[in-house]
Amino acid sequence: MGHLTNLDLPVLFILFSLCWGQSSNPDSERPSCHRCDQRLTCNCSNGKFNRVPIVTDRALTLDLSFNNISVVTEDDLTGHMQLRALSLQGNRLAVIHPSAFDSLWSLEELDLSDNLLTALSHKWFSKLGALQNLNLLNNPYSCLGSPPLFQSLVRLRRLQFGGPALEEIKRGDLAGVMQLEELTVHANNLTRYESGALADVWPLGRVTLSLHRPFLKDITLASAVLGDVTYPETPIVVEDLHVTGRRTIQPFTATAKRRVRYLTFRNLSVSDEAIVDFLVVMDGVPLISLSFDGITLTGEGRWEPANWTDHKSIDNLFIQNAVVLDVFKFTSLLQLGFLLQYPRKVSVINSQAYVMPCRTSGLLASLQYLDLSDNLLTDLTLGETLCDGKGTLKDLRVLNISGNALKSLSTLSHLVLKLSKLTHLDVSRSGYSSMPQSCSWPSTLQYFNISRAKLTTITPCLPTTLEVLDLSHNDLNSFSLVLPALRELHLSGNKLLRLPPGWLFPSLQTLRIQSNTLNMFAPSDLKLYKRLQSLQAGQNKFVCSCDFVAFLQSGIKGGGEVRLTDGDVNLTDGEDSYTCDSPFYHNGKPVGTVRLSVVECHRVLFVSVSCGVVLLVAVLVCVLLWRLHVFWYLKMTWAWLKAKRSSRRRRRNRDNGDSEGLLSFDAFVSYSERDASWVENYLVPELEEPRENDEDSVNPRRNRSLTLCLHKRDFLPGHWIVDNIMSAMERSRRTVFVLSENFVQSDWCRYELDFSHFWLFDGNSGRDAAILILLEPLSKDDIPKRFCKLRKLMSSTTYLEWPQEEEKSAEFWRSLRNALRGDEEDD
Ligand SMILES: *[C@@H]1O[C@H](CO)[C@@H](O)[C@H](O)[C@H]1NC(C)=O
Ligand SMILES: *[C@@H]1O[C@H](CO)[C@@H](O)[C@H](O)[C@H]1NC(C)=O
Ligand SMILES: *[C@@H]1O[C@H](CO)[C@@H](O)[C@H](O)[C@H]1NC(C)=O
Ligand SMILES: *[C@@H]1O[C@H](CO)[C@@H](O)[C@H](O)[C@H]1NC(C)=O
Ligand SMILES: *[C@@H]1O[C@H](CO)[C@@H](O)[C@H](O)[C@H]1NC(C)=O
Repeated sequence: MGHLTNLDLPVLFILFSLCWGQSSNPDSERPSCHRCDQRLTCNCSNGKFNRVPIVTDRALTLDLSFNNISVVTEDDLTGHMQLRALSLQGNRLAVIHPSAFDSLWSLEELDLSDNLLTALSHKWFSKLGALQNLNLLNNPYSCLGSPPLFQSLVRLRRLQFGGPALEEIKRGDLAGVMQLEELTVHANNLTRYESGALADVWPLGRVTLSLHRPFLKDITLASAVLGDVTYPETPIVVEDLHVTGRRTIQPFTATAKRRVRYLTFRNLSVSDEAIVDFLVVMDGVPLISLSFDGITLTGEGRWEPANWTDHKSIDNLFIQNAVVLDVFKFTSLLQLGFLLQYPRKVSVINSQAYVMPCRTSGLLASLQYLDLSDNLLTDLTLGETLCDGKGTLKDLRVLNISGNALKSLSTLSHLVLKLSKLTHLDVSRSGYSSMPQSCSWPSTLQYFNISRAKLTTITPCLPTTLEVLDLSHNDLNSFSLVLPALRELHLSGNKLLRLPPGWLFPSLQTLRIQSNTLNMFAPSDLKLYKRLQSLQAGQNKFVCSCDFVAFLQSGIKGGGEVRLTDGDVNLTDGEDSYTCDSPFYHNGKPVGTVRLSVVECHRVLFVSVSCGVVLLVAVLVCVLLWRLHVFWYLKMTWAWLKAKRSSRRRRRNRDNGDSEGLLSFDAFVSYSERDASWVENYLVPELEEPRENDEDSVNPRRNRSLTLCLHKRDFLPGHWIVDNIMSAMERSRRTVFVLSENFVQSDWCRYELDFSHFWLFDGNSGRDAAILILLEPLSKDDIPKRFCKLRKLMSSTTYLEWPQEEEKSAEFWRSLRNALRGDEEDD
C-alpha cells in the first residue's frame, strides 16, 4: 500500500465518518444533554427525555430527574467511570438492565425514587462498591427480594427504601448493611415483618419510619419494627400516624423500654386519649427531645389525666405546623404544669398561636429558649405573653418572635427590658417600620435580628451592647451609629450607596452588604475597619473604574475566594458575585474578567498627550502649508472663482447692451507701487501725450494718443480690488505688465498677472493681449516657481526691455507703441 498523499486524507475521513455513522446508528436516536457546568455537574432535569441522554463522560454529577425515561439499557451509562452522583428520580423507570450501572465505579449517590420499578435486582448494585447513598423510595415493589440487595454496598451510609406497595420486610433483606447514618423506611402498607429484620444495623443514626397501617391495624408489627431500630442515641422520626384510640399508642412501649431519647412525630393526627396514653407510656423515660412537625390535634387539650407522669428529662419541646381542629373548645394549657416546668427550650412555630397567656408563661419555669415565630402575635398579645414586661421568664436567653405582626419597637424594648439574661432577640420578618430615638434594652443583649422589616432609618435606639446585628432586607440608605462591640453586621438587601464608615465598628469582623446599590469601595474604606476579616458585597451596582477593578483583581488568586491586598479582608462570597453595572459595555461581566484599556484608565494623561500631539501636528501642518504657499494658492483660487463669477455677470450685462462693457482703454498698466515713478514720469507722458515730431506723424491715426488705465487713477473707489482689476482688464485692449523685482514681490501685481492670464486664455483675445516690459534685467529663473504663469508667459511672449542707455529709449517707445496698436491694424 502506498503512502497517503494529501488528497487521500479527505477521502479517508469521509469513509471513516460513514463507517462511524453506521456503527453509532442505535445511538443516534439518543438525545444529548449539554447542560453541564464548570464543576461537571450536568443538570438534565425536566428535559422531557425519553431515554438516558448522551452526556460527557467526564461528568461528575448527572441529574436526570423528572424526565420520561422508562428504560436504562446496558450501554446507556457506559464510560461514566468518574460519575459521583446519579439521579433518576421521578421518571417512568420500569426496566433497568442488570449491568446498566456496572461501569459506575465511582458512584457515591444513586437516586431511583418515584419510579415504576416493581422488582429490585441485586445485580444493579454488584459493582457499586463506592456507593454511600441509595434512595429506592416510592416504587411499586412489594418486597426487597432475594438474594439480598445490598450485600456488595460496603460503604453504604444512607439508605431509603419502601413505598405504598411495600408489604414485606424479611430477615436478611438488609444483609451486608452494617452501620448507617440514616435509614428511611416507607412502610405505610406493611403487612409482614420478620422480627429482627432491621435489628442488625448498628451503629444507627437517624431513623425515619412511616408506619400508618401497622399502627392502625397491626400493633405487634409496629412494635417489632420500632423495637428493632430504637437505641438511646438514635433519633427516631415516626411519620403519617393517625392515632385516636387508647391502645393505638402501645407500640411505643417498645421504644420506651429501649430508652429512646430523641423522638419526632411528623404528620401526626392525634386525639386527647392518645396523648394521655403516650404520656403514660413515656412515664420516666429519659426522653430529651420531643418534636411534633405537622400535628393535628383532634381533641380539646384535656391531658390532665396524665399529670402524675414524670417528664423531668424533656429538655426540648418542639411544635411546628400544629393545627387545632376545634380552636374554640380547646382548653388552656394551664393544667400542663407537669409537662411545662422542665423544658429549657420550647418552640411553637407556625401554629396560628395568637397569645400565650401570662399564667402559662409562669409555668415555664426553666425556659431559656422560646421560639414563637410565624404565629399571630401582636404588640398587645406579646404584652400578655411576656406578662407586661415584669420579667416573668427570668432565665430566658433567646427569644424568637420572627414572622409576627409586631409594629412598635418601643413596646418591645419595654417588654424585654427586665429579661436580665436575654442575649438573643429575633424579631425578623415583622412590621417594624420606624425606630424611636432612644430605647432601653437588657444589658446582656448581644444578638439582634430585625431583618426583613420595613425600617428606613436607624436611630440610637439600637443597643450598643450588640455583637451581631442583622438589618438585612430593610429600606435603609445610610448607617451611622457607633456600635463598639459589634462583630457581625448584616446589611444585605438595603439601599446603601457606600460602605458605612469603618470607625463606627472597631470590633467588626464580618460585614455582609450584598444586593445594595454600592458603586465601589476602595482600600481606604477598608482600612477604617480595624478588625474586618470577611466581607460579602456582591450583587451590587459596581462602577468598574480602573481603581476598583485593579483593587479587586489584585486580590483574586483563583479559586473563588478573594483576599484583598490591604489588611486581611476576604471577600467570602466569591469573585463571581462581583459584576460590573457600568460602563454599559461591561455590564454583567464579572469584575475579575474585565480588561480596561489604557484610554479608560489614564484618561487625563491620554487627553493631554493626544491634545499635545494634535497641536503639534497642526503647527507642523501650518508651517508646511506656509512653506508650500498653500494659503496663497487658496486665496488665489478663491479670488479667481469670485472674479470669474463677476466676469460672467459683466459679460451678461454687456450682452444686454450695457455701456459699461465697452472697450474704453488701450491698455491697462499693471505695475508695482515701487515702480510708480517710472510709470508716471516716463510711460504715461510718453504714451498719453501725442508726439508731433514722430516719424509716423504721416499717419494721423498712428499719432493718436493712447489711453491708459492706471489703478491709482482709474479704479472706482469702493469696489472690491479684484473686481476693479477684472473690469479694468476687460475694458482695456491690452495689459501691460511692468516687470521688476518689485513686481514679483507685490501680491497686488500677482493678482493682476493672474487675472490677465485668466482673461487671456478664457476670453477670445489672442496671446498678445499681454505685453511684458522688463524694467530691469530679470531672468526667468529669478521668478519664484509658484508664478508659473508669469514664467510661462515670459517664455512664450516676447518682452520689451527698458534700455539702460538713454539713446535706445526712442526705439523702445516705438516698439511699445506698435505693440499696443497692433490689434487696431488687424481690425
Ligand atoms: C412519556 O413516554 C411515553 C412512552 O414511553 C409516552 O406515551 C408519553 O406521552 C410520554 N410523556 C411525556 C410527557 O412526554
Ligand atoms: C396496601 O395493601 C393492601 C393489601 O395488601 C392493598 O390492597 C393496597 O392496594 C395497598 N395499598 C397501596 C397503596 O399499594
Ligand atoms: C399524612 O398522613 C396521612 C395518613 O395519616 C396521609 O394520608 C397523608 O398523605 C400524609 N401527608 C403527608 C403530607 O405526607
Ligand atoms: C428564629 O426563627 C427563624 C424561623 O424559624 C429562624 O430562621 C431563626 O434562625 C430563629 N432565630 C434564632 C435566634 O434561633
Ligand atoms: C435573621 O433572621 C432571618 C429570617 O428569620 C434569617 O434568615 C437570618 O439567618 C437571621 N440572621 C442571622 C444573623 O442569624
